[in-house]
Amino acid sequence: MSHFTYRDGALFAEDIPLARIAGEVGTPFYCYSTAALTENYLAFADALADLNGLVCFALKANSNLAVIRTLARLGAGADVVSEGELRQALAAGIPAHKAVFSGVGKTRTEMEFALTAGIGQFNVESAPELDALSHVASGMGKTAIVALRVNPDVDAQTHHKIATGRSEDKFGIAYEDSAALYARGETLPGIDMAGLAVHIGSQLISLGPFRAAFQRVAGLVRELRSAGLGVRRLDLGGGLGIVYDSEEPPHPTDYAAMVRDEMADLDCELVFEPGRLIAGNAGVLVTRVIFVKHGASKRFVIVDAAMNDLLRPSLYDAHHGVEPVIEPAPGAALSRADVVGPICETGDVLAGSRDLPALEDGDLLVLRSAGAYGAVMASSYNTRPPAPEILVNGDQYDVIRARQSYDILLARDRMSDWLTVRASNRRSRSSSTRQQIALTRRSAPAPSVGSSPLTSAFILPRPGINRLPTR
Ligand SMILES: Cc1ncc(COP(=O)(O)O)c(C=O)c1O
Repeated sequence: MSHFTYRDGALFAEDIPLARIAGEVGTPFYCYSTAALTENYLAFADALADLNGLVCFALKANSNLAVIRTLARLGAGADVVSEGELRQALAAGIPAHKAVFSGVGKTRTEMEFALTAGIGQFNVESAPELDALSHVASGMGKTAIVALRVNPDVDAQTHHKIATGRSEDKFGIAYEDSAALYARGETLPGIDMAGLAVHIGSQLISLGPFRAAFQRVAGLVRELRSAGLGVRRLDLGGGLGIVYDSEEPPHPTDYAAMVRDEMADLDCELVFEPGRLIAGNAGVLVTRVIFVKHGASKRFVIVDAAMNDLLRPSLYDAHHGVEPVIEPAPGAALSRADVVGPICETGDVLAGSRDLPALEDGDLLVLRSAGAYGAVMASSYNTRPPAPEILVNGDQYDVIRARQSYDILLARDRMSDWLTVRASNRRSRSSSTRQQIALTRRSAPAPSVGSSPLTSAFILPRPGINRLPTR
């Protein structure tokens, strides 16, 4: 059931009209539903409840602390891919022993941090990573619990940029090399080989590729055991798809039945890493129409959200449903339009060729299914403050990440010493600095930039350049 529905002609998030939030918070903004997050998490966790499993929410899908805490309260662990995400999981209340650390390029510093925190599992993706982890852990007098991530060479039949289990992908250890590396891992100091991990991609809309990959992994478990090696844990990754448009992904209960078929007799603890399934349809992006422009061959609805807020359409040609916040009258005429953002890129199209009713400046639209891989991928490209995030819970809402001010955006940058007037007062000057200072003396004072740290005193205009011609 969606928790973003029309009531009396206005789109609500649970019990709150989205137009009210837009009026109070401004646009664009992400809006998540607590009820949807809860329902999605429980649908997955309950389906697998009999399987001795831990559900670790993949923070890469949505790492807002309030979202993580909502899931942590339901019992979720975390799948993290960086020290930053591990810090977020811990800050949101997920204990380290319920966190798994995935990713092909963990640095030694990240390994140390995770070991100090007491992380539950490292998913190791290469021989050099295993050696490095052994070195770091044994040097700290600790033991790293390891699942070797196997690349089963299975095509997930999803968008090629989110397929991770083919032999040409950078992820996991080549299937044929896995048994030997597992055996070597057993001999390394500071390493406890717990089992295997697999994740073949995201937004899978059929069970076939999962089943093929799990069968490969099960075969490897049997091979390892027959060689006398212990395998007690299997991490089956994430990947279950959701409905963006007209897809018909498997229900978690069908997925669970398949897992039971393939894995139950192996008698292993299981770990799952769903992300999109939990957060994707629990969030929308709300945006306001700035202009409607009738081009030579198209209607463009130019909105105040852009690819810096929601990258998926530009990056993956992804589809997000678009709906007006005020429900169109029954039978309202629809016509084709591209919903585009203000960014100076032709690719800044949030939704192309959609049948939409007449729209005008100031109207609100939602982009659906934006709760996963939305805000986490935001940037400030074109020096646009990324959209804030809102969490709704029944009839209350809260701003769980504020909109960044321009002051904060500008304050991220520092002016190099050699570009400041201050440098002119230093004794030890390089000759190029001296030239710069000479220029400064001849130049007019720069305009003030308000409360940013780059006040006029530090700006060094170059005379004759970057000025409009004078008559
Ligand atoms: C290792 C790993 N685990 C879990 C996930 C989450 O996948 P999804 O959001 O499709 O469930 C990903 C994302 O691709 C991943 O790379």
